[in-house]
Amino acid sequence: MEIPENISFIISRLEAAGFAAYAVGGCVRDRLLGREPKDWDVCTSAEPAAVKGVFPDVKILDTGIKHGTVTLLLDGGVEVTTFRVDGKYRDSRRPESVSFTPNLMADLARRDFTVNAMAYSCRTGIIDPFGGREDLAAGIIRTVGAAEERFGEDALRILRALRFSVTLGFEIAPETSAAMLGLRHNLGRISAERVRAELVKALIGGKVKPQFMRLREVVAEIIPELRPCFGFEQRTVHHRYDVYEHILTAVDSCESREPAVKMALLLHDIMKPAMYKFKNGSAHFKGHPAAGAKKAADIMRRLKFDNKSIALAEKLVRFHDVRLRGGLPQILKLTRLVGDDDMPLLFAVMRADTLAQSEYRRAEKLALIDAGEANYRFALAHDLCRSLSGLAIGGADAAELGLSGREIGAALNCCLNAVMNGKIKNERAALLDCAAELKKRWHNL
Ligand code: CTP
Repeated sequence: MEIPENISFIISRLEAAGFAAYAVGGCVRDRLLGREPKDWDVCTSAEPAAVKGVFPDVKILDTGIKHGTVTLLLDGGVEVTTFRVDGKYRDSRRPESVSFTPNLMADLARRDFTVNAMAYSCRTGIIDPFGGREDLAAGIIRTVGAAEERFGEDALRILRALRFSVTLGFEIAPETSAAMLGLRHNLGRISAERVRAELVKALIGGKVKPQFMRLREVVAEIIPELRPCFGFEQRTVHHRYDVYEHILTAVDSCESREPAVKMALLLHDIMKPAMYKFKNGSAHFKGHPAAGAKKAADIMRRLKFDNKSIALAEKLVRFHDVRLRGGLPQILKLTRLVGDDDMPLLFAVMRADTLAQSEYRRAEKLALIDAGEANYRFALAHDLCRSLSGLAIGGADAAELGLSGREIGAALNCCLNAVMNGKIKNERAALLDCAAELKKRWHNL
């Protein structure tokens, strides 16, 4: 197995000083899968002070000294952690204490999944006491030892199992998934930030539908608002799936790796069950986008997303269901509301939503989205007026005509609508005429 130079340097220096040292965890897993590891972690029998002694010439940060982790600044930061066994877990989150051990096997035994519990050094080759390689080859996420114990120690591992199964496209071993379901209530003790991080990694890292369907109760543990969508039949020609399966199909139909886009898709129909009405032989969900946008923002705030992502997802949910009609004016108005930068994301959401519906008029719906996007590009390329600031007159011009207070904004908005509708040109004279006409009407002249 090839390992980066800085990692083999650290391992061989520790070995030369009489310590055991290995690359460990995710990097070994990823290398065996032929993937580029995100980062390389080293574990060693040396305690932090000894590690420092072995690298007097390297800058070292005490990143997690209590847990035995220091970071060597060598071609980026490399975390070097002393072999350890965790003490008792009090709260499904973190051990009350950790203690160091000279024993690699004890360190590997405390790790979460077999595929994450392998170590490697050039000297020893791969050390795999729990069948990690076999599970990698078979595509299985399985806990090291008893699943209840592993999940009982750190409930976040329940979401890690879900995330790894999504990003690696693996199945979850039956006893592992049974324990995930059995202990899912412990997820309530995990901080929103950690929950969010795992959710986002899953959403942007692979196809969520198979596992999010099977383990829907785990998903509902972190977003209970999704539960009413489970099995909620849509009873319209536009849909072939219940609301939840439709939502997941939409998430998987979108290639974007932007978390807010994936969250928008996950939450876009969340208020459908609440807004359901059956009329004239078909289901209707009037108002679900606006109500869903508010709910999506609430959920994302609870999960401690950043404000920019919340605002973006809220907007995408609010406008996901706009019926495109094919004309330029509608696209200009929509661009005004959504903003230039986010329009491509809205089109991506609309496409994914459509692909997750039934085939009824699908080609027509997709063609309207394509036409909308073409119109949007045309508007940008020709800098067509789509905002008050792009209008050839401003507030001062309206005031000079004798308009005042709220009339000024209203007049400018009317002018902008007339321009976007193609009724008048975005030229000063035409706009001043338009505003003067409005004044006459409003002042009953
Ligand atoms: N680990 C664990 N239990 C956790 C978190 C981590 O046992 N709750 C162990 C696993 O052996 C894991 C290693 O610590 O491989 C490193 O954790 P981390 O960097 O969070 O995950 P990776 O497995 O490296 O995967 P990724 O980088 O994709 O998150």
